[in-house]
Amino acid sequence: MGGLDLCPGDLPGGGKATMTTQTDPTAYEPSAEDDGVGDALAASTTDASLARTIARSQEIEREIDQDPGKFRVLTGDRPTGNLHLGHYFGTLRNRVLLQQRGVETFILIADYQVIADRDGVGPIRERVYSLLADYLAAGLDPEKTTIFTHSSVPALNQLMLPFLSLVTDSELRRNPTVKAEFEATGGRPMSGLLLTYPVHQAADILFCKANLVPVGKDQVPHLEQARVIARRFDERYGRADASTPVFPAPEPLLSEATNLLGTDGTKMSKSKGNTIELGMDADTTAKVLKKAVTDADRNITYDPANRPEVSNLVLLAALASDRDPHEIAAEIGDGGGGTLKKVVTEAINEHFAPIRARRAELSSDPAYLEQILARGNARANEIANATLDEVRTAMQMTY
Ligand code: TRP
Repeated sequence: MGGLDLCPGDLPGGGKATMTTQTDPTAYEPSAEDDGVGDALAASTTDASLARTIARSQEIEREIDQDPGKFRVLTGDRPTGNLHLGHYFGTLRNRVLLQQRGVETFILIADYQVIADRDGVGPIRERVYSLLADYLAAGLDPEKTTIFTHSSVPALNQLMLPFLSLVTDSELRRNPTVKAEFEATGGRPMSGLLLTYPVHQAADILFCKANLVPVGKDQVPHLEQARVIARRFDERYGRADASTPVFPAPEPLLSEATNLLGTDGTKMSKSKGNTIELGMDADTTAKVLKKAVTDADRNITYDPANRPEVSNLVLLAALASDRDPHEIAAEIGDGGGGTLKKVVTEAINEHFAPIRARRAELSSDPAYLEQILARGNARANEIANATLDEVRTAMQMTY
C-alpha cells in the first residue's frame, strides 16, 4: 500500500539477489548460531528459489481444499492510502476467498509500520477506518476474520524484544527487501524501525502462530526471516518437549500475479493519479478511464508484451467480469479504444456497484466500524497475551 508495498518485479536487479556472495565487513563473527541466514534471505529472491516457493504455494492451495482447518492465515497492509483495483485484484479478493474456503484469517492494519520510512503518521485515523471499510465492503466477514491494528496490541509489539536478540544487524542489512525499500526513499537516512521491521513483521505473524502468510514476492525474504526467528527461539528457549515448538514455521502463499498497471500503462501508483480506487463512484471511474492511454491500432487484442496499455484495460475488464481477456478483445475487435474504454468502464462499475454501495453505507456508520475494530483488537490482545505468557515462561521470566 505504501513505500513498503513493492509490486512484483520491483526489486532492483529484476528481483535477483545481487549481494549473496559479497562479504559484509561489518558482519558478526560466525558463531554456532550464525547459519548464514543473511545469504538465505538474499537467496530467497533468486529465480530458482522463487520457482520453489510458487510450486509450494500451489501445493498449499490443494492442502487448503483438503483441510482448511490446519492453516491459520495472517496478512496485512500499511494504512498509507485508499485501496485501489490493484490491491483488490492482487490480494483482497484472495483473502475473501481464503475466508470463504474456511481458513481462519487475521488481517493486520499495520499502523506502526507507517512510520518506518516517513516522518509522520499522516491522517492515520481516517486511513485506518477507510481500510477497514474497504475490507468489509469487499467481503471480509468480521465474524470469521479478525481485523486489528498494531498499536492496539501491546503484547504483539513486546515480542519484538526477544526476537531482536535472535537476529544480527548484518542479516537485517542484507535483507533484499529492506535494501530496496531503503533505496526507494531517495537518500533519506534509514530509521532503526525500517532496518528492523522484518523482525516486527515476524512478531505480527508469530503472535497468533499463523502458519500461512499470503504476500507478494517482495515479502518472501521476511517470511524466511520469520522462520529463522521461530526456529532460533526454539533452539534457545525451547521447551523440554521439543515436539511442540513454541512457534510454527510460517510459509508464504504466493498467488498468481495479476500485474495490473495504472490507466496510463505505467506502474499503478496513487501519486501518479493512474489508479481507480475501490471507493470511487461510477462517474469518476468513467472519467479516469476516458483519459486512459491506448494506442493507434483500432483492432483490440490482448497482447501484454507488445501492447501494455490496451492489454491492461482488457485485463481490467476481464478481471471485473470474470472472463477471458482474449475473448473480450476479440469481441471488441475493430471497435477501437473508445469501445474498449466503454466496455471496461461498464465491467468495473458493474462489479463494484454492490461493493461501493456497501462501502458508502459502512462509511456513514463510524460507530459500527469502531465496534468491529474494537472487537478485532480485543481478540488479537487475548491471543497476543497468551503467546507472550508462553514466551516469558520459556525464557523463565515469570515473576
Ligand atoms: N509490509 C506489508 C506490506 O506493506 C504489510 C505487513 C505488515 C504484513 N505486517 C505484515 C504482511 C505481516 C504480512 C505479514 O504489504
